[in-house]
Amino acid sequence: MNTQKLIDTAKALFADHKGLLAMDESDPTCNKRFAKLGIPQTVEARRAYRELIVTAPGLGESISGAIFFDETIRQQKQDGTPFLQILTEAEIMPGIKVDIGAKDLAAHPGEKITEGLDGLRGRLAEYFQMGARFAKWRAVIGIGDGIPSRSCIEANAHALARYAALCQEAGMVPVVEPEVLMDGDHTLERGRKVTEEVLRNVFIQLNCQRVLLEGMILKPNMVLPGLTCSTQASVDEVADITMKSLWRTVPAAVPGIAFLSGGQSAELASARLNMMNLRFKSQLPWALAFSFARAIQQPALEIWQGKESNVKAAQQALRHRARCNRAARRGEYTAAMERT
Ligand code: 13P
Repeated sequence: MNTQKLIDTAKALFADHKGLLAMDESDPTCNKRFAKLGIPQTVEARRAYRELIVTAPGLGESISGAIFFDETIRQQKQDGTPFLQILTEAEIMPGIKVDIGAKDLAAHPGEKITEGLDGLRGRLAEYFQMGARFAKWRAVIGIGDGIPSRSCIEANAHALARYAALCQEAGMVPVVEPEVLMDGDHTLERGRKVTEEVLRNVFIQLNCQRVLLEGMILKPNMVLPGLTCSTQASVDEVADITMKSLWRTVPAAVPGIAFLSGGQSAELASARLNMMNLRFKSQLPWALAFSFARAIQQPALEIWQGKESNVKAAQQALRHRARCNRAARRGEYTAAMERT
């Protein structure tokens, strides 16, 4: 294992206040988002949408790496140029989602386990050979009556750690994503407790599987109350409690944390990331960045609506969100940026 390469790759993904763009929605997830907007759910529509993203002018100013899905990493622009080549020319590092989805966990109603370890070593070798230098695996933890169970947390943490070790063996930086969902009516405090328990277990397993912490990226949720909780939290409260949880659970050897957005509005995700950096950046051992899908893409997708005539405006919206989040990494995002 070339540890220095892994460390350099992880560092490069956080350089210059840039962040990651997750564009790795599986076909069913992408189709669901298209269906809501009346966009055809076809291979060609998905390809055209991803072409819009990778060719967005100026994206590389704010995005250091983009995460593909298996279908997308193999696709090309209409003129035949591979997406991989377009990203590389824009100095955006290609990454790849390598889990095959969250499935029902046997004997645990309402809970999920992420699958994809079988054959992973071979798939990683192929993606590396194609040019991917980092990978992603998402575990999903729900909060509800009697859940999450200890067994669900442990099983998912174990799978994340085995995936991460295989990635590093293949020369790829693992993005370790344990997502505590914001669905439900749980309080902010319950969100904190579950997030901390999950992260503690994830790092126990990562250490157990001998994952090099300096050569990985953590992709957690921000700590939030459930979407239907009657008491919502201010931007300050979210920043405070999220930092407290991360301080307690994430070793300083980890070079950076790149949040998922999880269904927050694009503007709130930027505002919360900004507040964390504004108030705590000088005290943090890790970079605090973003690896958003919806909070970067959603406004652009709504503008595009599957129409060629909307491509330019959608690309501008994408670039705008990427810029806002880069500003949030510096603690320089303001609501006024949304009006420019
Ligand atoms: P969201 O930012 O939309 O939560 O997506 C992040 C992601 O990559 C989910 O796996």
